[in-house]
Amino acid sequence: MAAFAPPPGTADIFEDEARRWRRMERTAAEVFGRYGYGELRTPIFEYTEVFQRGLGDETEVVRKEMYTFTDRGGRSLTLRPEGTAGVMRALSNTDVLNGVEQRVYYHGPMVRGERPAAGRRRQFHQIGVENVGRCAPLIDAECIAMLMNFLREIGLGDAELIINTRGAQDDRGPAVELLRNYFASHIDTMCDDCRERLQRNVWRILDCKQPRCAAVVAEAPDYIACFSEESRAYFDEVRRALEALEVPFRSDRRLVRGLDYYVHTVFELVHPALGAQTAIAGGGRYELFLPGASRPVPGVGFAAGGERLLLAQDALGCGGETQEPAVVYLIGLGAAARLANLVLADRLRRCGIPVALELEERSFKAQLRGANRSGAPLAVVRGDSELAAGRVLVKTMATGEQREVPDTEIFDCIKNFAENE
Ligand code: HAM
Repeated sequence: MAAFAPPPGTADIFEDEARRWRRMERTAAEVFGRYGYGELRTPIFEYTEVFQRGLGDETEVVRKEMYTFTDRGGRSLTLRPEGTAGVMRALSNTDVLNGVEQRVYYHGPMVRGERPAAGRRRQFHQIGVENVGRCAPLIDAECIAMLMNFLREIGLGDAELIINTRGAQDDRGPAVELLRNYFASHIDTMCDDCRERLQRNVWRILDCKQPRCAAVVAEAPDYIACFSEESRAYFDEVRRALEALEVPFRSDRRLVRGLDYYVHTVFELVHPALGAQTAIAGGGRYELFLPGASRPVPGVGFAAGGERLLLAQDALGCGGETQEPAVVYLIGLGAAARLANLVLADRLRRCGIPVALELEERSFKAQLRGANRSGAPLAVVRGDSELAAGRVLVKTMATGEQREVPDTEIFDCIKNFAENE
C-alpha cells in the first residue's frame, strides 16, 4: 500500500476539498480585487539564485529546506519555497523599477523540505499578495486590513494579529550588537539551535520556542529603542492606522519572521483553533535588490497557508460546501437509448445544466440505484419501446410520480425545471 501513498508531507486533494480551495481562491480574488490587486502566475521553479539572493543565504529555508536540482544545461534550479522572490523577479521586467506601484496576488503550491507534522507539509499552498514599488506606513496598514477582511470572509475573523518592526537596514547594526551581547552572556543555558543562531542570525533567538530559552528571551533588551527616530515613527504610524481601521493587534518584540528580506513592519496571524505556534499567515515590508536596479525595491505583502486556513475552518465547522447535484439522471436501456441520452445530456450541459447518466450497459435496477445515489431530483427513462414511440418517461424522484413526455419536448421540459428549481 505504501507505494501508492504520496510522498511524506504531500497530499492528494479530492473534489470535496478541492471545492473548498476553489471557493477560498475565489474569495481571495474578489477581496484583493477590491484593493486593485490582479493575479500573477509565476513558474513553480526558478534559478536558485532568485531565492538565495531574495531570502538571504542565512535563512533556514535557503540553508536547509530548498529542493534544488541541476538542469541539463548545468544551471541550478529550485522549486519555489515561497512566492515573494519569484514575484519580484517577474516584476523586475515591469516599470516597477521606475517607482510605478504594482499590486499582485498569487496562489499555488510551495515546496519546503520540512519535517511533516499537523499543519506542516512539504508541499503546501499559499495565497499571497505583494504590493511593490512604494513605501509608506499607510500602505502596510491597508495590506494588513485587507488580509483581515479576507480572513473574515472565509469565517476566520477571530484570528489574532501580532505585529512588530524590524527597523530599517541601517538600524540593524546597533540592534544586533545589543542582542548579541545580551544573549552571549546567557548562551550556556540556551538550546543548541540558539548557540548556532548567536553566530549566524541572532534575531532568530527571539522566536525560539524552546522552554529553556523562553525566560532569557523574555528579558531581552528593547532593541527597538536603538532604531532611528524615523523607524520608530514609521511603526507608530502603522499602529495608529490599524487603530483607525479598527483592526485589533498585539505588538510583540519576539516576532522577527524567518526570512531576511524584511524591514520595518512584520506581522503574523494565529488562530485560536490552531494554537499560538501555528501561523495561518505571515508577511511584512521588505526590500529586495532586483537585477538592473541601482537601489533595493520596496514592497509589502503576506502569504496565508491554505492548508492551515482549511484546518482552522474545520475546527470551527465552517467552510464546507456540498457539490450541487445533477438536475437530472438519464437512464438508457439499449444502445440506441444510451446514444440518444448522450446527445440530450450534451445539449443540456451546454446550457449550464448539470446532468448525470449511465453510458455503459447496465440493468434498469442498477441505473435506478445510480439515479438515487446521484441526488438528482428528476430521472428520465428511455428504453427501446419509448424510443419507438418517440416518448420518454420522466420520474420525480422524491414522490416516485411518473409521466410520459414526447421526446421532442424533453429538452425544454428539463430546462424549464432547472430554471425554476
Ligand atoms: P512564511 O511565513 O514563510 O512567509 O509563510 C507564510 C505562511 O505559509 C505561513 O504563515 C503558513 O501559514 C504557511 N506555511 C509556511 N510553511 C508551511 C508548511 N511547511 N506547511 C504548511 N503551511 C506552511 C512567506 O512565505 C512570505 N513569502 C510571505 C510574504 C509575502 N512576505 C511578504 N510578502
